[in-house]
Amino acid sequence: MKISDYEINLSKFDKDWALLTAGDSSKFNTMTISWGGFGTLWHKPVITVYVRKSRYTHEFMENNEYFTVSFYDSEYKKDLGILGSVSGRDKDKISLTKLHPEFINNTTTFKEANTTIVCKKIYSSDLEINSIPSDIKDKLYKNDEIHTMYIGELIEINVR
Ligand SMILES: Cc1cc2nc3c(=O)[nH]c(=O)nc-3n(C[C@H](O)[C@H](O)[C@H](O)COP(=O)(O)O)c2cc1C
Repeated sequence: MKISDYEINLSKFDKDWALLTAGDSSKFNTMTISWGGFGTLWHKPVITVYVRKSRYTHEFMENNEYFTVSFYDSEYKKDLGILGSVSGRDKDKISLTKLHPEFINNTTTFKEANTTIVCKKIYSSDLEINSIPSDIKDKLYKNDEIHTMYIGELIEINVR
């Protein structure tokens, strides 16, 4: 669909969750995310995601120019729970789910996605620990596991 026609609600990430996937048919990884945002930067439509450095997916986000953010119907919520608690570093976690990878635009999504957004990475930066409010820091960054923020330009939206 046309990128400018895509409408989102503010709680999409928080309520539906999504899969963040990077890599291609030779090697890829995916993980569940519920933090992120849609917006505009440098006159481009963008999506912003936050990935802790400890995630296996972080390596794939660093090493690939493209990534996808994909959304699923509620019947796949359990699968998103698995992909958000098991690391691809330890296990072929996709085989624990009903999902099947699909390789598009030099990157990866899953056949079961109701919406896939293909993004080109245009900016990344680690969050600055000293700029995070202290109550959040105490709660979410006790082990110093900082997030890297990735901003991707929306290249394509596939809605089933
Ligand atoms: C609902 C949900 C939302 C999550 N959101 C994020 C997120 O936004 N950023 C992040 O770094 N980890 C997030 N996680 C944790 C990762 O998905 C989880 O650590 C995953 O196992 C990492 O997999 P990997 O090591 O294969 O990359 C979330 C987990 C769940 C269940």
